[in-house]
Amino acid sequence: MVQLRLPKGSRVKKGKAWPEPRGADGKRPRRTKRLKVYRYDPESDKTPRVDTYWVDTEDCGPMVLDALIKIKNEIDPTLTFRRSCREGVCGSCAMNVSGSNALACTKAMSEISGTIHVYPLPHMPVVKDLVPDLTHFYAQYASIQPYLQTTTPAPTTERQQSPQERAKLDGLYECILCACCSTSCPSYWWNADRFLGPAALLQSYRWLADTRDEATGERLDNLEDPFRLYRCHTIMNCANACPKGLNPSEAIGEVKQMMVQRAV
Ligand code: SF4
Ligand code: SF4
Ligand code: FES
Repeated sequence: MVQLRLPKGSRVKKGKAWPEPRGADGKRPRRTKRLKVYRYDPESDKTPRVDTYWVDTEDCGPMVLDALIKIKNEIDPTLTFRRSCREGVCGSCAMNVSGSNALACTKAMSEISGTIHVYPLPHMPVVKDLVPDLTHFYAQYASIQPYLQTTTPAPTTERQQSPQERAKLDGLYECILCACCSTSCPSYWWNADRFLGPAALLQSYRWLADTRDEATGERLDNLEDPFRLYRCHTIMNCANACPKGLNPSEAIGEVKQMMVQRAV
């Protein structure tokens, strides 16, 4: 059988293993949890490595982010990751936890049996350790012009919507731009330079669905391209990955439907 190996610089090597905690009886307490965490500093490391840490779950908050904060505060201050709200609303702690993209602050350690494997979001350049470079992701978001655009004169009161019109934004406005969906999408992995990806496309539909917006034609023109929209093959990884329970795939389907409707 053919054996495939990654090029030398792409292999993740074994890193440092921090000491296992031991109880008075010399055994490891059952309440400890092992975390294997991706480490990489492109400025000084030729190759990424995976370091091993242990946390006492009874002396730590319940979430994966709590464990990472404990490791940084008490074991290894060089570990680098993003976080802000610790409530699942800022999107900054998105990472890959034991094979699935998730928000570390809402992913409970108790959900994962055995060792917890923590990696940065897949298929993104790494700034350091668990911090992906989201420059391109944000540029794609900016490209869909995520703000209300109008041509009619501003009314003297608010631009009003009926409850039914407002309800069309449910399932869209809640997006926190964490990038869990886009970085779990195979089409985005291979064509991120040209395919906008599920997050930007869900956001695009958020404005297309807004009855107050008056730039529908221009927004659809902006997506009329073999790659920007149509590289979605309805694989549905995006909906499975979204920690807010949103369905980018469905939103992309709605955009495609709008394309068809304006063509007939
Ligand atoms: S449904 Fe489309 S956007 Fe979502 S994962 Fe699949 S290809 Fe990507
Ligand atoms: S759709 Fe969900 S997974 Fe994608 S960026 Fe928004 S909140 Fe994150
Ligand atoms: S820290 Fe804000 S979503 Fe996790």
